[in-house]
Amino acid sequence: MKTKTGKVYIVGGGPGDPELITLKGIKALEKADCILYDFLSSPKLLDRAKPSCEKICVGKSDKLHLKEQGDINTLLYKKAREHKRVARLKGGDPFIFSRGSEEAAYLLRRGIDVEVIPGVTSAIAGPESFGIPLTKKNKIQSVGIVTGRKSDPGAAIDAPACDTLIYLMAVANIENVIKALRNSGRSDKTPCAFIEKATCDDSRIVRATLGTIAAEARRNKVKPPAVLIVGEVVSS
Ligand SMILES: C[S@@+](CC[C@H](N)C(=O)[O-])C[C@H]1O[C@@H](n2cnc3c(N)ncnc32)[C@H](O)[C@@H]1O
Repeated sequence: MKTKTGKVYIVGGGPGDPELITLKGIKALEKADCILYDFLSSPKLLDRAKPSCEKICVGKSDKLHLKEQGDINTLLYKKAREHKRVARLKGGDPFIFSRGSEEAAYLLRRGIDVEVIPGVTSAIAGPESFGIPLTKKNKIQSVGIVTGRKSDPGAAIDAPACDTLIYLMAVANIENVIKALRNSGRSDKTPCAFIEKATCDDSRIVRATLGTIAAEARRNKVKPPAVLIVGEVVSS
């Protein structure tokens, strides 16, 4: 006999502005009996939960892990087994440089019903919130979303041959990102920008070139969360 269990909604909370979640994401939060949330999603989204909803912060940042990934998986499973409608609220899109897909796979393997609700990723919202398009008809025809940090700190950073590159998690490792871009043949004159806290009230942009972006980021004290945009779109 199939055991009755709850359902887990893996919800993209958007990049920071609480209005940049989808309607479907809001509906999942409103009906949830339990919400497990990260630091990157807006805390205002939790106001949409019903009063009886249990809210658990499982946030991870560079320096602080309130819960390890294995514990988050186990907790999601436990809450779903309690016949609850569980929302797993994640920053941006839940599958872009996020462990949402691992969480979904873990739950599906254990027979839990999972629905993924995509979100607006910071990789796109960051540049667009400052009016920077990622593509241009017949001119800029490819975009790559790249990690600026790998689990192995010694591993080379990727710099795929796309017209526009968006690096996430690049602030602390900017020198290695620049090295990868130079090795891929990009000139020091390539326009670049860091966008910090995109779509939040205190978001800002620091524009430079590949040759100057590291110094400009230091001078302006750029801090995570920030996305780095590389390519001609920055100066357009
Ligand atoms: C673990 S990744 C999660 C990405 C997320 N899933 C997304 O789709 O935006 C965290 C990185 O996303 C980027 N990020 C997330 N929110 C941001 C924001 N509001 N402004 C700028 N960058 C952001 C930063 O590069 C940050 O280090």
